[in-house]
Amino acid sequence: MAIVIIRQDNKEQLWKDALLAADSKLAVYTYKEEYNPDDIDMALIWKHPEGSLAEFPNLKCIASNGAGVDYIFEDDKAPTHLPITRVVDKFLAADMSEHVLALILAYLKNIEHYKVDQFNKIWKPIQYKRIADFKIGILGFGTLGQVLATDLIKFGFNVQGWSNSRKSLDKVQSFAGQDELSEFLATTEVLVCLLPLTEETAGILNKELFQQLPKNAYIINVARGGHLVDADLIEMLDNGHLSGASLDVYHQEPLSTDHPFWEHPKVHMTPHYASVSDTNSVIPQILENYRRLQNNEPLLNLVSKTKGY
Ligand code: GLV
Repeated sequence: MAIVIIRQDNKEQLWKDALLAADSKLAVYTYKEEYNPDDIDMALIWKHPEGSLAEFPNLKCIASNGAGVDYIFEDDKAPTHLPITRVVDKFLAADMSEHVLALILAYLKNIEHYKVDQFNKIWKPIQYKRIADFKIGILGFGTLGQVLATDLIKFGFNVQGWSNSRKSLDKVQSFAGQDELSEFLATTEVLVCLLPLTEETAGILNKELFQQLPKNAYIINVARGGHLVDADLIEMLDNGHLSGASLDVYHQEPLSTDHPFWEHPKVHMTPHYASVSDTNSVIPQILENYRRLQNNEPLLNLVSKTKGY
């Protein structure tokens, strides 16, 4: 019985060391080192090479090292009939919330705009916006979305959320399902996408949706690049319907250097780093699930195969 760590970002050894520091008796390997694939019963992964999960005949569980699991379902060779777990973590949620809060405040107070003016030595005050005058709409009102909403409320924002099923959170209006999407969009001035990427949500940030937002709405996508139709965003920024966008995620990562987002004056970019799994905080839930796996007990943070998240 052993765990294999599979990822392509040079953090395999970091996670191996952290697992061993938590339990020195664990059998844990990085994907490329020597071991017997028959021994592996859990794969701890983040954006694994396609097909790699099919190499372990006795695999019993796939543990995503992030909140998202879309990349597992995109791999046709992945044994998705096995239990799949994801990370649900207070730091992952708090880090995401802090990142989005920083973006929203920077937008209301024109921080990016002044950075460009400073570069060009332009002294030109422009009207700032106030928190109390603003409505933030969170598209994807699950664990991360609800932590963000709670933080935004503390700052005095008006907040509403949209998700498949209705949620109940103090001071936040919850919209649910396709029937209520237009109503939600009509009053959303800053749209934050925190949806899981599934067949239903791929391409949801498109022209038709943007047109339902009020003029000058601002877009923040911290979910997945696959939610956004890039050309539609550029069109709606260029025709003045949208006032700007902050993106952390892209169809292709790293984004190719010839992509128009890089030089677009209304696009603010970060390199998919809004919120990353913290080893100290996440390892206990991985180890707890590994223990449960050995004892045939129900696993924590299981992904629903029908929902895809
Ligand atoms: C990050 O993108 C995650 O899914 O955890």
